[in-house]
Amino acid sequence: MLDVYSIRKDFPILERKINGHNLVYVDNAATTHKPIQVIEAIREFYMKYNANVHRGVHTLSQEASDLYESARVDVAKLINADPEEIIFVKNATEGINLVAYAWGLPNLDRGDIVLHTLMDHHATVVPFYIVSKYKGFRQRMIGITDDGYIDMGDYEDKLRLNPRIVTFPHVSNMLSTVNDAKKLIKMAHEYGALVILDATQSVPHMKVDVKELDVDFMVFSAHKMCGPTGVGVVYVKKEHYSSMNPFLGGGDMIKDVGYNEYMEPTVTYNDVPVMYEAGTQNIVGISVYPKSIEYLEKLSFEYIHEHVRKLAWETYEALRELPNIEVYGPESSRDRAGLVSFNVKGFSAHEVAAYLDSLGIAVRSGHHCTGPLHKRLGISSSARISYYIYNTFEEVEYIVDALRRLVS
Ligand SMILES: Cc1ncc(COP(=O)(O)O)c(C=O)c1O
Repeated sequence: MLDVYSIRKDFPILERKINGHNLVYVDNAATTHKPIQVIEAIREFYMKYNANVHRGVHTLSQEASDLYESARVDVAKLINADPEEIIFVKNATEGINLVAYAWGLPNLDRGDIVLHTLMDHHATVVPFYIVSKYKGFRQRMIGITDDGYIDMGDYEDKLRLNPRIVTFPHVSNMLSTVNDAKKLIKMAHEYGALVILDATQSVPHMKVDVKELDVDFMVFSAHKMCGPTGVGVVYVKKEHYSSMNPFLGGGDMIKDVGYNEYMEPTVTYNDVPVMYEAGTQNIVGISVYPKSIEYLEKLSFEYIHEHVRKLAWETYEALRELPNIEVYGPESSRDRAGLVSFNVKGFSAHEVAAYLDSLGIAVRSGHHCTGPLHKRLGISSSARISYYIYNTFEEVEYIVDALRRLVS
């Protein structure tokens, strides 16, 4: 079990008052807060180790490079990958753009199909949409059932179209559905398709093992798991590097740049994964990210997942009982993760969020970057409560009470 009250002491921001009330921060699917251990590590990095990485012979640069590269090892361990399969980018969104350009541009052509689901985040659909305008391939979306699951019949039908690559979220950032990633990946592989797993909402909450899932590409970001902002991770199964081109060009991603007898530039790329890390990266963020991983591992991902799911399930059950509230996603606790999206009849999602904010409760409202999903549900927006390690059952009660007053 998590000792939530002692965890809360590590998060200075939780002491803030908002509109005269204690802050109840339940917008964790958007970003999480940082424990003092991470905040101090950022300060320590700037005070002791700040230098650019990979390029310097001097001691500071070497120490910074060691921290940067040991972060790669720690992130690889977290998901059971090899360090060379880990590419650092600035967020999960950039990670999918990297795959869409570095793998998509050289491999996709007219006649090819890329599959997404109706519960995909814009971050997976839009990068491929942009690349499709260059290459002429088509995108199709797999339907979902009324109770918030991927429609497996439709999935199988669309796999029969022989898509080249499939994307889906491990955990839906709106429905809270935990998708059976292993099964979906196995099915895609049976039809010869590769898979990009959007693990942005799962890696912060549960142990995700890329080898066990046999996934081809996976993305997530540090800021949703107590880590610094500006750090995203792309996992690339080693064998796919040979069919990829660089994404961004510039310093660090090259071994050599020169010119030939016709005064044309010549370029030799660096080895992977550095070949995909052009220019000065978020050195401090990447170097400090292991502190947040260490923090979460000490708590244990098993307990984190259990705690957050219980909070969300209690919320889901309470809201479902209230009149004039529509709650979305699976009706079984087994298939739900740590968030609850809903609408209150007679109020817009923004009005609900503003009302909750007046009581110190921070929730998100809008389409949560899932436009197609909202369209499928026949709504334009929703309010979303999303929990993390520092949230309490008293907070659940406070939120439910506030909503009870609103509907009555
Ligand atoms: C499922 C999902 N995918 C992708 C993203 C994009 O993550 P980032 O903001 O780190 O780019 C989010 C962010 O909310 C998300 O919930």
